Amino acid sequence: MPLSNPIFPLIAQAARQSGVRAFVIGGYVRDFFLERPCKDIDIVVEGSGIDLAEKVAVLLHTPVHTFKQFGTAMLRHHDMEVEFVGARRESYRANSRKPIVEDGTLVDDQLRRDFTVNALAFSLQEEDWGCLIDPFGGVKDLQNGLLRTPLDPDTTYSDDPLRMVRAVRFSAQLGFTIVPESLVSIQRNAPRLEIVSMERISDELHKILMSPRPSYGFRLLDQCELLPLILPQISALKGVATMEGRGHKEIFSHTLQVVENISQKSVDLWLRWAALLHDMGKPATKHWDPKIGWSFHGHDFVGSKMVPALFKHLKLPLNEKMKFVQKMVLLHLRPISLVQDEVSDSAVRRLLFDAGDDIDALMLLCEADITSKNEQTAKRHLENFIKVRKKLIEVEEKDAIRNFQPPISGDLIMQKYGLSPCQEVGQIKERIKNAILDGRIRNDYQEAYALMEQIVKEMGIV
Ligand code: CTP
Repeated sequence: MPLSNPIFPLIAQAARQSGVRAFVIGGYVRDFFLERPCKDIDIVVEGSGIDLAEKVAVLLHTPVHTFKQFGTAMLRHHDMEVEFVGARRESYRANSRKPIVEDGTLVDDQLRRDFTVNALAFSLQEEDWGCLIDPFGGVKDLQNGLLRTPLDPDTTYSDDPLRMVRAVRFSAQLGFTIVPESLVSIQRNAPRLEIVSMERISDELHKILMSPRPSYGFRLLDQCELLPLILPQISALKGVATMEGRGHKEIFSHTLQVVENISQKSVDLWLRWAALLHDMGKPATKHWDPKIGWSFHGHDFVGSKMVPALFKHLKLPLNEKMKFVQKMVLLHLRPISLVQDEVSDSAVRRLLFDAGDDIDALMLLCEADITSKNEQTAKRHLENFIKVRKKLIEVEEKDAIRNFQPPISGDLIMQKYGLSPCQEVGQIKERIKNAILDGRIRNDYQEAYALMEQIVKEMGIV
């Protein structure tokens, strides 16, 4: 039953009392046919959306939030968010985000929606309750898995250029195909994306990353010529340089494979971001040496330094999530590089210390990074990886380094020797930390204290 939620008869009652026609439209109707869960209900009214929302809010005894400048209102009912908008005819002037808006009919409103599959509506009128209004063949497009705009795609995309990114997002989320004339139109209109706020674009990027097929989404962004405008750092990973007939691994495809691999293991959005960005430092560090071939020395460090600027550009929060991504990019080579020779306890302790609580996420990323097509190489990397994983568990059980807090604090050193904050205090702390990580002393207060006394003597402080 499409209109089984008890809120619909209430909305219908309020609309009838106000003498306006109201319809359920957009994602709710689409997701009803796709049998997907949906937490948002969009109501379009031939009249004022705010007036109707206020009447429904009275019936529900619930507060209503109005956004007068947009002519919309929103209220919550149980776990549903219900948004009301007046049917509009809307157009945008070139280079302006401010639309010219006039009142319109349901069909006017459907026409100015992004895709036929998002322009479906159910009637809330008594006489045709629950009747589907589908003027552009949206249900057929749903059945065929097609994303098509109700108007000429050039008009729909230039009305709101974010829709070009939404097309890619829906494609990745639903497994739908963008119809060819729409794809060509996106390529043509891609530069119009510059009038869209980065916050809106980033929201779509999150949804692409969280979709069942993130790598397909990023390939499509590239095919649509949107990728260089949104993520030039990732677009720069494309292509293979050749010297003396030797090319390096294609970094863009590899990156997308890593994103795909991590997505099968984790639903953590920020770990998926880390997978997307992990090799971002490669173009800047690419180097050809006739003796050793291609190298990307230091790309982990360079890539991690690029993260804050990229987050700033995408208007993503510069908070602990960013630090987490930065840390993943910086450390992504560490677990596998441990096994070049013997896996020493000391190297494992250092890795545990540097990764802290994020060690499990780092190990997932490191495993996802094994994409070699050569079966022998992939097998060897995987075996090494398993070795490191085993060693990590052993060392962690023994030494509890993961949440390592130095047993001797700077305050204690200053108090005991009557020092004010100075370089020496830092040096003492660092030497104690290194002694623990190298396994020369145990992670224990007494042993660290004894070492402190010895270091202080050596340094001539007492
Ligand atoms: N819409 C549009 N153009 C946009 C954004 C939204 O035409 N740039 C219309 C579509 O009809 C869409 C509806 O507004 O279905 C609601 O938008 P939104 O909540 O962003 O998307 P949903 O389709 O509900 O999908 P989701 O909840 O997955 O974002």
